[in-house]
Amino acid sequence: MSKILIITGGSKGIGKGIIETYQSHGYQIFSIARTKNETFKNVKQVEFDLSKTDGIRDLLSGIFDDIKQQDLQQITLINNAGTLGQIGRIEDIKDIEASVQLNTVAPLILTSIWISLTKDWACEKHIINISSGAAQNLITAGQFIALRKQQ
Ligand SMILES: NC(=O)c1ccc[n+]([C@@H]2O[C@H](COP(=O)([O-])OP(=O)(O)OC[C@H]3O[C@@H](n4cnc5c(N)ncnc54)[C@H](OP(=O)(O)O)[C@@H]3O)[C@@H](O)[C@H]2O)c1
Repeated sequence: MSKILIITGGSKGIGKGIIETYQSHGYQIFSIARTKNETFKNVKQVEFDLSKTDGIRDLLSGIFDDIKQQDLQQITLINNAGTLGQIGRIEDIKDIEASVQLNTVAPLILTSIWISLTKDWACEKHIINISSGAAQNLITAGQFIALRKQQ
């Protein structure tokens, strides 16, 4: 029986740590980020900019083409990729579009497509969204990050 993790933003930071932990528990890993982490072994790394949300359906469908449903015990999606972006008053933020696409729109689209592709699968299924303390505890001039992380 196999276990699969699909994670965004696995190339470094928290995502890299999550991959190492899931690998140690025997998961097959698919990681989506703009760059590859050359230190990974046995991680299928897909280079993709998640702020370009138009391509996400094809991206995820391509990953699912490599997944064999037979003998699958569990499949997990972790929406981890994200950036703090600029902190400041909303009228001073310059990267609103790309930041909202990456932090808010991409996880929603990935979740929607992932559910539609797996809805008839009998295995155990999990979706985990990495949020931020800033979504719950407002910091000064932090309303923009709070809004993007309230999934
Ligand atoms: N670190 C903290 O203290 C903290 C606190 C609260 C919440 N978080 C949340 O935790 C998550 C991970 O944070 P982190 O600290 O590990 O960040 P990080 O070290 O900057 O890593 C971010 C990951 O996301 C990927 N990524 C960034 N922009 C991307 C894009 N446009 N398309 C595809 N992948 C992209 C990066 O890979 P590439 O650069 O290769 O694309 C990288 O793998 C984020 O959602 C963040 O908001 C972190």
